[in-house]
Amino acid sequence: MKDLIVYYSLEGNTEYVAQVLKEKLDARVRCLTPKKAYSTKGFAKYFWGGKSAVMAEKPELESYDIDLSEIDRIIFGFPVWASTFAPPIRTFIEDNREALAGKRFAAFACQAGSGAEKALDKLSKCLNETAFEQTAIFIDPKARHSEETDRKIEEFANALKAE
Ligand SMILES: Cc1cc2nc3c(=O)[nH]c(=O)nc-3n(C[C@H](O)[C@H](O)[C@H](O)COP(=O)(O)O)c2cc1C
Repeated sequence: MKDLIVYYSLEGNTEYVAQVLKEKLDARVRCLTPKKAYSTKGFAKYFWGGKSAVMAEKPELESYDIDLSEIDRIIFGFPVWASTFAPPIRTFIEDNREALAGKRFAAFACQAGSGAEKALDKLSKCLNETAFEQTAIFIDPKARHSEETDRKIEEFANALKAE
């Protein structure tokens, strides 16, 4: 089975999980990059990113090279923004709706505090209510990294392998 990890990460937390999972699952991985980068600074970071998420924006992405016909399962990874998934994921889904039909899905969310369950629910709705085979939630897995973080990633990888 071929897995593809599709993720967006503003400050490296989601990326950390994506890269560890890639090794454990021998999966392909694609990072989504908005053409206009979101700010990583103070007020602007939360204001513009939060607004973009609440408005369900679809920011234009730098081109990415993915042949979805070769992929069986997509594992989405994203930071929680204002209790929803970060906007680049929406762009990817809208741009690839036809190619995504019939695929299997899993997802992981990175958050600082709360909102990930809601965000995962919203992502499932965006994917036409398709249920995820597995989900996982991480608390700032790079910024607040611990042994527990790596144990949770391992657990998630094992659950994904078992599907
Ligand atoms: C615009 C914005 C909104 C956020 N909203 C939430 C939120 O609603 N709940 C939460 O727990 N964390 C929130 N966070 C924190 C991130 O989800 C969290 O730090 C995550 O681990 C960052 O992942 P990244 O480094 O891959 O971008 C927000 C961060 C930003 C930039």
